[in-house]
Amino acid sequence: MQRDLDERIDTAVANLAGIRSTAKGVRKWLTGAFLEMPTLRPLKNFLNGTWLEHPLHPVLTDVPIGAWTTAMVLDIATAVFGARNLGKASGIAIGIGVLGASGSIATGMMDFTDTDEPEDSMIFTHALVNAAATLLFTTSYVLRQRNNWRTEPSHVALSLLGYAAVTFGGFLGGSLVYRRGVMVNRNAYRATPKDFTPAIALAELPEDKPTLVEVQGEPILFVRRGERVYAVGAVCSHYGGPLEKGKLNGTTVECPWHYSVFSIRDGRYLRGPTTSPLPLYETRVHDGQVHVKLQQRQN
Ligand code: FES
Repeated sequence: MQRDLDERIDTAVANLAGIRSTAKGVRKWLTGAFLEMPTLRPLKNFLNGTWLEHPLHPVLTDVPIGAWTTAMVLDIATAVFGARNLGKASGIAIGIGVLGASGSIATGMMDFTDTDEPEDSMIFTHALVNAAATLLFTTSYVLRQRNNWRTEPSHVALSLLGYAAVTFGGFLGGSLVYRRGVMVNRNAYRATPKDFTPAIALAELPEDKPTLVEVQGEPILFVRRGERVYAVGAVCSHYGGPLEKGKLNGTTVECPWHYSVFSIRDGRYLRGPTTSPLPLYETRVHDGQVHVKLQQRQN
C-alpha cells in the first residue's frame, strides 16, 4: 500500500535514530514538569495560546520563516547583483528570526506535551530539525556580527543549510496539522441536530453526573440538575478527551486528559490548554423525553 511521504519520512527517521523512545521520554518529562504541576500550568496555558483564543505556536512560526526568507533574499541580492551594504540588514533579519524561533520552540514544546503516540515522534523530529535550523542561523548571525556585517560565503552557506532545515521542519509541521489533525479543534464540524431531537428519557439521566448520549451520531454531554438539563459537546475540543469521564464542579467540567475546564452553561472554556469552546446544545423536556438541538453561537 502506498504511504504518504511524511509517513515514510517519519518511519525512517524514527526507526533510524531511536527517536520514538527519546520523544516519549522527553514528553513524559515535560508532562511531569508543566502539566502535573499546577503552579506551572498557567505558564503552559499562556504558551499554548489560551489567552489569545488561538494556538500561539503557528502564530510565532511565521516570524522565523518570514525573517529568514528576507535574509536569504538580501544575501542573494548581495551575491547576484553585487548590492552593497545589505549585510547588516540581512543580519538583523536573521536575528529577528532567531528570536521568533525561540518563541516557536517554547510554544511548540508545550503543544508537544499534550500530544500522544504515534504523532509524538514526528513532532519531536520536527522540533529537532527546527532547532538545528535555529542553531545554524544563530551561528551565521554571530559570524556576520564579528565580521562587521560583511557577508562571507561561509555565512551564506550556514544560512542556506538553516533554510533547508526550516523548510523540511515546516513540511513536517504542515503534515502534522493538515494530514494528521494534531492540535486542531476536535469539534470543528459538529452541525447536528439542527432541530429538536429526542435524546434520552429524563428519568434515565442521573442527577449531577456527566452522561454521554449519542444523538444523530454526535456525542453530547448531558448534566441534569432537577428539571434543568445542560448539554454541551462530549469531546474535548483540545485533543478529544472524553468529558463524560471528567470532573464536574458546579457548572464546569474538567477534561481528564490535560485539565481544560469548560462551562456546561455555554460551552466556553475557562482554562486551557484548549483554545476552542465546546458545541452548545439547547434542551427541552417534552413528554418525559429530553430533546436537544445544536445552538448557534452569537459570536
Ligand atoms: S484533551 Fe487536552 S484538555 Fe481535553
